Amino acid sequence: MPAETSLAQGVTVSRVITKEELCVLEKVPAPCGIIIFGASGDLTHRKLLPALFSLYLEKLLPNQFYILGVARSAMTDPAFQERALECLGQAGTSGARHEFVRRCGYLSGDYQDSRTYEVLGQRLMGLDRVYETVGRRLFYLSTPPSLYGAISKKLGAAGLSKAGSPDAWVRLVVEKPFGSNLQSATQLNKALHEVFQENQIYRIDHYLGKETVQNILMFRFANAIYQPIWNNKYIDHVQITAAESAGVEHRAGYYENAGALRDMFQNHLFQLLSLVAMEPPSSFSADAVRDEKAKVLASLCFSKDCDWEDRAVRGQYEAGAIAGEVVPGYRQEPAVNPESSTETYAALKVEIDNWRWHGVPFYLRSGKRLAERTTDIRIIFKHVPTSIFQPLMADQISPNILRFRIQPNEGIALCFEAKHPGPKLCMSTVTMHFDYEEAFGIRPPEAYARLFQDVMIGDQTLFARQDWLAHSWRFLDPVLERWAERKETGLAFYPAGSWGPAEADDLIQKDGRQWLTT
Ligand code: NDP
Ligand code: BG6
Repeated sequence: MPAETSLAQGVTVSRVITKEELCVLEKVPAPCGIIIFGASGDLTHRKLLPALFSLYLEKLLPNQFYILGVARSAMTDPAFQERALECLGQAGTSGARHEFVRRCGYLSGDYQDSRTYEVLGQRLMGLDRVYETVGRRLFYLSTPPSLYGAISKKLGAAGLSKAGSPDAWVRLVVEKPFGSNLQSATQLNKALHEVFQENQIYRIDHYLGKETVQNILMFRFANAIYQPIWNNKYIDHVQITAAESAGVEHRAGYYENAGALRDMFQNHLFQLLSLVAMEPPSSFSADAVRDEKAKVLASLCFSKDCDWEDRAVRGQYEAGAIAGEVVPGYRQEPAVNPESSTETYAALKVEIDNWRWHGVPFYLRSGKRLAERTTDIRIIFKHVPTSIFQPLMADQISPNILRFRIQPNEGIALCFEAKHPGPKLCMSTVTMHFDYEEAFGIRPPEAYARLFQDVMIGDQTLFARQDWLAHSWRFLDPVLERWAERKETGLAFYPAGSWGPAEADDLIQKDGRQWLTT
């Protein structure tokens, strides 16, 4: 084991996992094929191919693999390879990029036409022979969500959903959004289960692939000192923020029918909440972790002392300025209805009604076109019970705050009080920082890379299970329905570049608290 090494201000890494130990943890998957439906689309080029290439560079892809894109657009193999090359940018060497794209192919066909799947089946058999992948296939659904059920059915009908030999496997990755309410999510689950077993289905949430999100589990369950204080006796409240400075960009077609609750809360924010609030699992196995996460959402509720509408704020951005640049309002964005009532911002005050968290509010907010891009979780501890530092009263002494910085500047910070040089009663809040990049000398890897790797090795821990999803929709459905009924009423507006509508400040200020943004 290396000696204790000081790598960054405030952080000492005293045990570095050696290369040999890492190899044990980072299993290299067996040879397999990756088949992406919707391969002409934005996600494939912006995220999926670069993520696969980063695994290739790290030697975490199997030594034999192929990637086959499927979509309606007419495209030859060389044209797809050319596009793939473009989206890899300058990553790796030119030789590595060319070697990688050489393994990429493309099949054009209608997703609803059985003929597409016949041709696909034949092509996959040929690829199995060339790459010795023995029928191990990862199907990735990256089309509009309305096609997920139909594609799955066609794969089943063509005999492509079942492994053809004991060495083979077939896995299905389903992109978000998974349904748009409980009913549609249940229907989609039913459609997938008619063809695939639950242990073949990987419902993706790219937040779970973020290194700092996984670190929440290490922090909570690989350190003994936090567990005793991780409850309503010591924690006053929790804030979870996912702020984006970007607007709706080119995704209005999808976003107009989604809005911030479906786009960010139902999946990403509720995943963060589950990781912060879950009980210690019995092991680090996929189902043990997911059992505990599902229990958190089963206990999720609005506080019972008032109408939940007072605990839920929705907003939409108007024109404003971000980093000095004037940007249009949501209703002026291309392909957005000029009278749209879609929320681009939401804030909720929720509670988890169990013994650990009873009475602890969780304030969640997320929005587009906010002042900056930042995602973090803050655990705000209670004030000291009494002050010995008179005349300072207990509630005048700042509480401890633990901050998980999910992005950017990934890391963890702990704020505490310290004696300020000077007169006897000078007190200051100081911060102890752990910065991921400084400490480990590398940038956290791309979330999709980790998730691809997990699918290839068959680990479902970082994927949403159907019961978790059902709980999350069950909680949000009434809110979504009420907001849909009342469209305009209650929609608050905020200028782009701000921290959201004033109503969201009221939501937390009513309780004598403030959103923390610095
Ligand atoms: P795109 O809108 O780019 O669509 C992907 C492909 O699907 C298109 O290239 C197109 O291929 C096909 N397609 C589009 N519209 C239709 C249609 N009406 N009927 C049949 N096929 C259609 O989507 P993205 O790549 O942006 O996203 C793919 C999936 O991933 C979506 O479910 C999205 O919600 C999800 N996602 C995307 C993110 C992103 O950042 N882009 C982030 C998180 C999730 P062709 O016409 O060639 O068949
Ligand atoms: C996606 C949402 O799931 O997450 C987008 O559909 C959002 O609207 C994105 O911009 C945010 O992801 P990240 O990783 O940039 O925080």
